[in-house]
Amino acid sequence: MNAAIRQKFRATFSREPEFVARAPGRIEFMGNHTDYNGGTVLGAAIDRGVWVALARREDGVRELATDQGRPRVTARANRLEKFSGPSSWANYPLGVLAALAGSGRRVPAGFDFLAMSDLPAGAGLSSSAAIELAAALVFAAATDERVERETLVKLARHAENNFVGVPCGLLDQGVSAFGKKEHLVFIDCRGPRFGTVPLPSGVNFWIFNTHTKHALVDGLYAARHRECLTAAQALGVEWLADVSPGQFALVQKNIGAVAAKRARHVVDEIVRVGSATAGLRAGDLAAVGRLLTASHRSSQNFFENSTAELDFLVDTLEPAEHVFGARLTGGGFGGAVMAMTSGSFSESGAREIAAAYERKFAASPDVLRLQTADGAELIRT
Ligand code: GLA
Repeated sequence: MNAAIRQKFRATFSREPEFVARAPGRIEFMGNHTDYNGGTVLGAAIDRGVWVALARREDGVRELATDQGRPRVTARANRLEKFSGPSSWANYPLGVLAALAGSGRRVPAGFDFLAMSDLPAGAGLSSSAAIELAAALVFAAATDERVERETLVKLARHAENNFVGVPCGLLDQGVSAFGKKEHLVFIDCRGPRFGTVPLPSGVNFWIFNTHTKHALVDGLYAARHRECLTAAQALGVEWLADVSPGQFALVQKNIGAVAAKRARHVVDEIVRVGSATAGLRAGDLAAVGRLLTASHRSSQNFFENSTAELDFLVDTLEPAEHVFGARLTGGGFGGAVMAMTSGSFSESGAREIAAAYERKFAASPDVLRLQTADGAELIRT
C-alpha cells in the first residue's frame, strides 16, 4: 500500500506526498460496550487498515480525497466546518485536526490529504478509528509535534465524540494505536492503561461480514450508552465497571428491567474479559471460545444489539469443526461476526458457513481471514 498511496497521491494532486502513515482496523475480541462503562476490553489490530498521505500547502486550502469513491472535499484553514452526506467522511480527519488544535498543538494550515483503505466498510472493523489515527500521525508530523500514543488515542476519540458526534469509548482507537502482531491489546479503559496479551500459536481469526446495518445504528448505539449511564446512576456508582456480578445480583431488582439487562451484559462481560485473558495465557483455547460465544449470547439476550443474521452465523459456527467460538464484533445492530478457529478451519469450512447463510438470507456474507498486525505508525522513507 505504501507504493500505491504515493502513486495515487501523485495522480490526485500532481505532487509528491511529504508524510505517509498507516493505521490498522481492529477486531473487538471481547469486551462489548464495556469501554465507555469504565471496563476492560481485548482487541486485535488486523492486517487491513487505512493509509493516509499528506503534503503541506502555503495557500491555507485543505483538499481531502479518498480512493473510496467519495467526493473530494475542499475546506479552508480559517473556517473549520463539518460536512454532511457523502462528504462526511472528511469529518474524521478534520475532527482530529480540531482536537489537535483544541489541545493547544500546532496543526498544518493548508494541505493535500489522501486516504486509502482496504477495510471493508460497515463490517465493524473500525475504519473510522483507523483514519483518525493515521490522520493524527501525519498532521503531527507536518508540524513537528511529538504526540504520545496515549494522547493520539485520546485526541482521536475526542474527534469522534465531539466533532463526528458518536459517543464511542476508546476501544477502537486504543487497539489501532497499541496493536502488536501475534498479540491482543488489553485496555483498562478507566486509566486508561494499555497492554498486550500474546496470542497462542495456531489461533486464526475469520470475519463474516453480513453487510447488514440497522438503519438507526448510530441512534441505537447512543441509546445503549445512555441506558448504561442511567443504570450506573440508579445503582449509585460512577461506572457499571464498579459493580461485580455478585453485587449486581443483590441490587438488580432496584432498577428497571431494561436497565438491568443492559447492566448485566456489561458487568458479566467485564468478567469474561478477565477470564479470556487468563484462558489465553494458559493456552486454553476451548475455554476462551466458550467465553466468546457466551458474550454473543449476552448481546443477543441482554444488550439486544444482535440481529437475526449475526445470531444465525454464531449458531452455525458454534458447532462447526475447528471453531473455538464466535461472536458479533463491534457495536452490533448489524456488521460482522468474528470466529476464533484452529489452523485446521479452512476456506472450504468458511464457504460452508457462507452457503448456509445464503440459503437462509438469499445474500452472501464476505468472508475474510485476518492476521494480527502492529499498531498505527508513520512510514519513514
Ligand atoms: C463501537 C465503539 C466502541 C465500542 C464498541 C462496542 O466499536 O466505537 O467504542 O463501544 O462499539 O464494544
